[in-house]
Amino acid sequence: MDVEVEAIKTEMENAETKIISDIPFYIGTLRGKSAILARCGIGKVNAAVCAQIMVSVFGVDEIINTGVAGAVAHGIKQNDIVIAESFVQHDVDTSAIGDPVGFVSTVNKIYFEADKDIAARLKKAVGGKAHVITGIIATGDQFVADKAITAAMRERFNASACDMEGGAIAQVCTLAKIPFGAVRCISDSADENASMDYPEFAAKAAATCSAMVLEFMAE
Ligand code: ADE
Repeated sequence: MDVEVEAIKTEMENAETKIISDIPFYIGTLRGKSAILARCGIGKVNAAVCAQIMVSVFGVDEIINTGVAGAVAHGIKQNDIVIAESFVQHDVDTSAIGDPVGFVSTVNKIYFEADKDIAARLKKAVGGKAHVITGIIATGDQFVADKAITAAMRERFNASACDMEGGAIAQVCTLAKIPFGAVRCISDSADENASMDYPEFAAKAAATCSAMVLEFMAE
């Protein structure tokens, strides 16, 4: 989100901007490490374009995705933190030709594993500042606001949270053999109240995310 980018950008040193495919990339130093910051926009295609530019144009050696997410697992609530153990794309469905739902042909997998070391470092960065769980995040081109869909993501994929970008970034990184991690803050419960809760909680959840990223970079 814009608020996340702004919060991190103000902490960047020597930042220069390059616009590619309409996405501003901020290139500079963050907490003493070279870093490139961008807001990918909403949805899987925007996220994949941004991640692929990070890889192909800037040659990054790891990608951290941050943002808000809807709660899927029971017991997770607003402002909790979910660190990705892996991503699944819940909207990929070629079951009519015999594949399991979520199976991404060509890459031939359902689950895209996040880097274990990055996940551990993200967990350390969160510290005791929030309730944090490590789990599976389900991605799709859909803002989920329906508890039947949330239940299906839980039952089919054992998902803890849902978003609209992480699975695409995970696929780009898997293809490019780049380690990736994701830290997401819960803004809503992906149920019938989600459209009301999201505008109220998203900005605060996003601020939590940018604070985590800064802490992660400091570590
Ligand atoms: N990001 C934050 N809340 C979400 C939801 N309910 N569905 C998909 N992505 C989200």
